[in-house]
Amino acid sequence: MSTMPTSSARMSLNEHLITNAKVEDNLRHLMLDIARAAKYIQRAIRTTEAGLAGTVNQFGEEQIKLDVLSNECIARHLEESRQVASYASEEEDMVIELNSKAPYSVAFDPLDGSSLVDVNFAIGSIFGIYKGKEMIGKTPREQVAALYVIYGPRTLLVYAASNGTHEFILNDVGEFTLLRENLGIADEAKTFSPGNSSAVSDNAGYKKVLDTWLAEKPNMRYSGCMVSDMHHVLSKGQGVFANVGGKKYPEGKLRLLFECGPFAHLFAQAGGSTSNGTASILDVKITSVDQRTPIVAGSTKEVTKVCEMLKAS
Ligand code: AHG
Ligand code: MN
Ligand code: MN
Repeated sequence: MSTMPTSSARMSLNEHLITNAKVEDNLRHLMLDIARAAKYIQRAIRTTEAGLAGTVNQFGEEQIKLDVLSNECIARHLEESRQVASYASEEEDMVIELNSKAPYSVAFDPLDGSSLVDVNFAIGSIFGIYKGKEMIGKTPREQVAALYVIYGPRTLLVYAASNGTHEFILNDVGEFTLLRENLGIADEAKTFSPGNSSAVSDNAGYKKVLDTWLAEKPNMRYSGCMVSDMHHVLSKGQGVFANVGGKKYPEGKLRLLFECGPFAHLFAQAGGSTSNGTASILDVKITSVDQRTPIVAGSTKEVTKVCEMLKAS
């Protein structure tokens, strides 16, 4: 007979936020409302035709895009939480103000990897939470919590609130329950994940990095969805991910506020590193909503090595 505990025996996200993270109640409510939004998004991904070939409904209208739908769903839940002074979303040009007296602000990418819906790869949502109303002018180090949800064969939620990095699974009654506590990232990387790889044609440093990885590392693991590729590193406990600049995207493709910043907190809490090539992503000043940054992330020794190679050329 299986000795696996039933889902109900696993600790809920709510209980973990109370007893492990010991976050204040307002932040706990906010994180639970974000988790609630993610449940609707995972259902929408499974059940809508958006993103699939010929996505026109029976009335000949274009289906609402999944990233727009996810954005609206998250915005609604943030508003309902009453805990959000302002938010910034990859789907909006500006910071949106909600309730200036509320304690937190949230940056999010509602659907990361949305172009992969048709190929049925795992995709995700990313969130960074700051105290107060302002995010511009701060650094990702000032986040009080960060989390992502990955919509794959299973729906997982991974969070850190300065208390380590912890993984939860959505069970069949709609509760996120603890899967693994204190995920860790080893110093050495065996697998590599080369984002924006077309940059090798005009970035000699990145070409050198890729050649070295191909020669020295046993496994490449790259899906094209940052959430999945970063989750691979956290889940396997080692690896290196990069998305650095070339001619087309001088700063790489990824955004500081909603993509790299949250992962900087999650990786640091797991003992890994994130760098823009010269400094920790945690210390890069946020100057605008749509700011991009190069990123090298994962096993600390490998991140250092890669940054040296990028600097040398
Ligand atoms: P989004 O779907 O939010 O626009 O993000 C897509 C991103 C990210 O998930 C991924 O790491 C990157 O695009 C992939 O870029 P390349 O395919 O050029 O490597
Ligand atoms: Mn994205
Ligand atoms: Mn997106």
